[in-house]
Amino acid sequence: SLRRVLYRRSPKWQAPSRTPRKARRLGKLALIGAGGVGGNIAHLAAMQDMAEEIALIDIAPGVAAATALDLNHTSGITGAGGRCIGGETLDMVGGAEVVVVTAGRARSPGMTRADLIDVNARVIRQAAEAIRSEAPNAVVIVVTNPLDEMTVEMLRATGFPRERVLGMAGTLDSSRFRNALAQAAGVSPADVDAITLGSHGDEMAPISSRATIKGRPLSVFLSDAQIEACVKDAITGGGQVVALKKSGSATIAPAHASIELINHMRGARTGHVPVSVMLQGEYGIDGVVLGVPAHLGQGGLVKVEELRLTEAENTALHAAAEAIRGRLGL
Ligand code: LMR
Repeated sequence: SLRRVLYRRSPKWQAPSRTPRKARRLGKLALIGAGGVGGNIAHLAAMQDMAEEIALIDIAPGVAAATALDLNHTSGITGAGGRCIGGETLDMVGGAEVVVVTAGRARSPGMTRADLIDVNARVIRQAAEAIRSEAPNAVVIVVTNPLDEMTVEMLRATGFPRERVLGMAGTLDSSRFRNALAQAAGVSPADVDAITLGSHGDEMAPISSRATIKGRPLSVFLSDAQIEACVKDAITGGGQVVALKKSGSATIAPAHASIELINHMRGARTGHVPVSVMLQGEYGIDGVVLGVPAHLGQGGLVKVEELRLTEAENTALHAAAEAIRGRLGL
């Protein structure tokens, strides 16, 4: 069809619209962790009537069950037919098509995401064990920090192929980058096409060279100093929220970013989306998880999109890979 031809010729980022196009509904979506991010994912998923069943799981007594009940109470307004269930045991992931893992500790002001590596690796291993035995065909989306390292941990502990273990980060960081660019240029975020690659940490690599506003290079609208400030804003965005909150980290944008990945998987969005995946030679990098643009489908990763980068951007991407390797002792 014409649409397929056009799409193949131009595998570009798709400007977000408020309503994703009609798409496949999931059977079961399971959320491990029903705190701020998990609760918001459940809310967005229920509003988009994305799954027949949404299972919320949290070790905090009553929290997941209460959120599930609260969400079911919205169906008389929204008319959404999916049902939410909530509980405290990991076996509730049973039969899930997609599992999003947000469980674990959030950083406090002054901490880096990498400071959470040991405490959250234990949480990821527990979650992985349950997923491996109860939902062996699921696609897993890791949100727990430090994102790239925890995605590696999830891959190791489930033994799943790289296609089925994705990290949510690039979507979030790119949204922050676009938001900063749109504000600086005084345009709608829908007019901005920009992505970040690399780690979801200090070695994040916002890609200015390929970014556009209304289809034109950033330099048409912004000075070098303004562009630099937007890059910095994308890199420090999560930390800015942590500093303001004093306790806990961002919950809304990370939830939207997770939903965006699921929407790519179920065909509600087309084009590529920035996502953390295990690289196998793409961008000249092997054996480490890093944020890159990729096409997703029902079974998770379909294909990594290899963009042409400037030398500086390529160096930044490789530096991110080395930093992650170092933190994981690879
Ligand atoms: C974020 O970017 O909002 C999350 O990774 C949470 C954090 O610690 O910044």
